[in-house]
Amino acid sequence: MKIIVTKNDIQGGAKAFELFEKGIKNGAKVLGLATGSTPEPLYQNWVESDLNCNNLISINLDEYVGLKPDDPQSYHYFMQKHLFDKKPFKKTYVPDGTASDVAQACKDYDQIIKDNPIDIQLLGIGRNGHIAFNEPGTPFDIGTHEVKLTENTIKANSRFFDSIDDVPKSAICMGTANIMQSKSIVLMAFGEKKAHAVKEMIEGPITEEVPASILQKHPDVTVIVDEAAASELD
Ligand code: F6R
Repeated sequence: MKIIVTKNDIQGGAKAFELFEKGIKNGAKVLGLATGSTPEPLYQNWVESDLNCNNLISINLDEYVGLKPDDPQSYHYFMQKHLFDKKPFKKTYVPDGTASDVAQACKDYDQIIKDNPIDIQLLGIGRNGHIAFNEPGTPFDIGTHEVKLTENTIKANSRFFDSIDDVPKSAICMGTANIMQSKSIVLMAFGEKKAHAVKEMIEGPITEEVPASILQKHPDVTVIVDEAAASELD
């Protein structure tokens, strides 16, 4: 793993944008994208740039079950607002949270990823070491699946909702196996609250109890952390 420590999330976002821009200029066509607070500075740099995205395909990590694409809390909506409305892509994929057959929607998503192998996968990390919504204990060899969110994750994500009761209880999410198949990975983590998860991911044992620890086995991972998130590293 290559570790880049920046002063704060603004500089981290700028650094991540540099990596994406370079990768795209070198031929990356399929990008795995993430939502949440962490990628916002990256997307800010992206929309302010003159990077042409007309030939790019994006595949998002996850979506809440039950939220329509035009629901302001949905990840579809987040991506439109923060990136796609201002930078149109050739094609964008986000899991279908409204699918009547969730198991089939997961299979279809695996096929989309198979047909469009991901060149650069963007990740954030949860305080419990989750990547996408792969919570502690999720098998490493799993593909796209429906996941029941843990109390911790529901609590952490409730900041985006009017009340904690409004937070969906499950999501469709790419599995760790999908993520590991990407050619390269850029993971960002900012703030002191992520410091322990960052330490476990980089220096801890590889265990399903810390889903992000599997990234130690990937040949091309860049971790961008601010000083606070790097504070527990040896
Ligand atoms: C988002 C995602 C999640 C977040 C993680 C960190 O698509 O898959 O794993 O990356 O929960 O969230 P933030 O960035 O809000 O701290």
